[in-house]
Amino acid sequence: MTPAERLSAIRIARVNHAGEYGAIRIYGAQIAICRHVWPSLADQLAELKAHEIEHCALFITALRERGGRPCRAMYLWSMGGWALGAASTVLGPNLIWACTEAVEDTVHQHLTDQLAFLRARDPVLHDLIESIRAEEEGHLDLARHHKTRDTRSSRAFQALVRHSVNLVIWLSTWGESSRMRRDLEAAA
Ligand SMILES: [Fe+2]
Ligand SMILES: [Fe+2]
Repeated sequence: MTPAERLSAIRIARVNHAGEYGAIRIYGAQIAICRHVWPSLADQLAELKAHEIEHCALFITALRERGGRPCRAMYLWSMGGWALGAASTVLGPNLIWACTEAVEDTVHQHLTDQLAFLRARDPVLHDLIESIRAEEEGHLDLARHHKTRDTRSSRAFQALVRHSVNLVIWLSTWGESSRMRRDLEAAA
């Protein structure tokens, strides 16, 4: 890899680690509220949260192995994730799954770009992301299965979630995510 490509691999591991942390916070808020009102839903969400904790640990290891440091805007992921999780839960189970669907869907697009870039450059990180993406696809399928209604308000909420996730990625990389996206597309 060239130095620029090595830097891109570090950025990928860094933003993925931050994203997994954000997912942990989303599920954490949802579980905390659901425990009081929908305990069985809380158990289902706890399983997904356990996956995100594993993913987060794998990405921080991958990041450190490549000489990178965690994102400086982790507090944004933390507060944003918690707020998103709480807001979706207050709006009811359908919105919890709509939130999961929108988050996983947005993440899926980023992972697809990353895989195309990494395939010939960093096969180890490529394979790690591919195995994690398989589990994320399971989360997406589960959300689609449980989401009972597709209404105008749920679609508007999902659009807001998608924009928020993309914005926090942009902010946490100091605007570099846009360039990374273009670089990844050009390099694919
Ligand atoms: Fe994850
Ligand atoms: Fe997930």
